[in-house]
Amino acid sequence: MNEVRWDANQIPELRGKVALVTGANSGLGWHIALQLATHGAHVIMACRDNTKAIQAANAIRSSVPDARISQVPLDLSSLASVRACAKRVINDQSRLDLLINNAGVMFLPYERTDDGFDIHMASNHLGHFLLTGLLLERLERTDGARVVTTSSGFARFGRLPTDNLHGNERTSSFHAYSNSKLANLAFSCELARRLEKGGSRVISLAAHPGYAATNLQFGAANKMRSPIKAGVRRLAMRVSNAVLAQHARMGALSALYAATASRAANGEYIGPDGWMEQRGYPTRARIPEKASDGRRAAEFWALSERSADVRY
Ligand SMILES: NC(=O)c1ccc[n+]([C@@H]2O[C@H](COP(=O)([O-])OP(=O)(O)OC[C@H]3O[C@@H](n4cnc5c(N)ncnc54)[C@H](OP(=O)(O)O)[C@@H]3O)[C@@H](O)[C@H]2O)c1
Repeated sequence: MNEVRWDANQIPELRGKVALVTGANSGLGWHIALQLATHGAHVIMACRDNTKAIQAANAIRSSVPDARISQVPLDLSSLASVRACAKRVINDQSRLDLLINNAGVMFLPYERTDDGFDIHMASNHLGHFLLTGLLLERLERTDGARVVTTSSGFARFGRLPTDNLHGNERTSSFHAYSNSKLANLAFSCELARRLEKGGSRVISLAAHPGYAATNLQFGAANKMRSPIKAGVRRLAMRVSNAVLAQHARMGALSALYAATASRAANGEYIGPDGWMEQRGYPTRARIPEKASDGRRAAEFWALSERSADVRY
């Protein structure tokens, strides 16, 4: 697919287009927002912390002075917050060209959200599932609209829940994260099938960044009670990020390719082309069978609909 390596210089002119990026204040989301704004899109930064969102927007403006950026509050772990975010976007925007389902948490201790869902499944999958369903009408109205959902190589270690999305304390944080990333990928594939079947002009793709140095790796340490264990964990992650990870700017390319490349097609999964899909330039990534299995994905879709009280 990529005889010529694809990078951010190949993003087309996006003036007049509107893009919503979840978790745009940090890591990959920030680099995605930066590039979309650099190429002229109006970027809506959907973030849970308004102060961080304003700082992140200012950091983009410092290198792109004419950037069109706005913020909308969004806590993906709260269904009410997702509904409020979608309502505001629908009120404010007559079009939506790109929905980038990027935000995520990793390896946190077991916690149930106020809505009763496992924190990984709620923040990484269910919030995005509801947001996409509520914004679909705006996407449908917009010629060439795309939904890009961020998964991870950890998806291959995951299992899709069958009965509920509550999770439980006996599930390790590793598996809770992996399950949520498999959910992202299965959702993206199933959305692609449904859009195509319904004759929609909207397309759905998934992307993963390989291993990129961001704040994601420090979320678990921030939740640790013991300052010593937290310090050791942070040090280990700093070393690992410095030695093994690619820059977040590179990690963001997969989602940017999925969002803007003319060759990218409905149902594709995009990841880096290097060793074990850990680093490099965007190419088509391998979709594990457990994500592409249409019957399982449809059952999981129905469970997500019941959990978020939305149908689409
Ligand atoms: N970095 C990697 O190597 C890697 C590998 C595979 C997949 N990914 C995926 O890439 C995506 C982006 O992660 P990242 O690496 O850029 O990490 P990051 O720097 O920690 O950024 C994550 C973003 O998600 C936001 N977020 C977390 N929970 C949220 C919630 N409940 N509501 C709204 N926003 C929330 C964070 O907000 P706060 O700043 O307020 O916490 C932050 O803006 C995630 O989906 C992750 O699973 C990353």
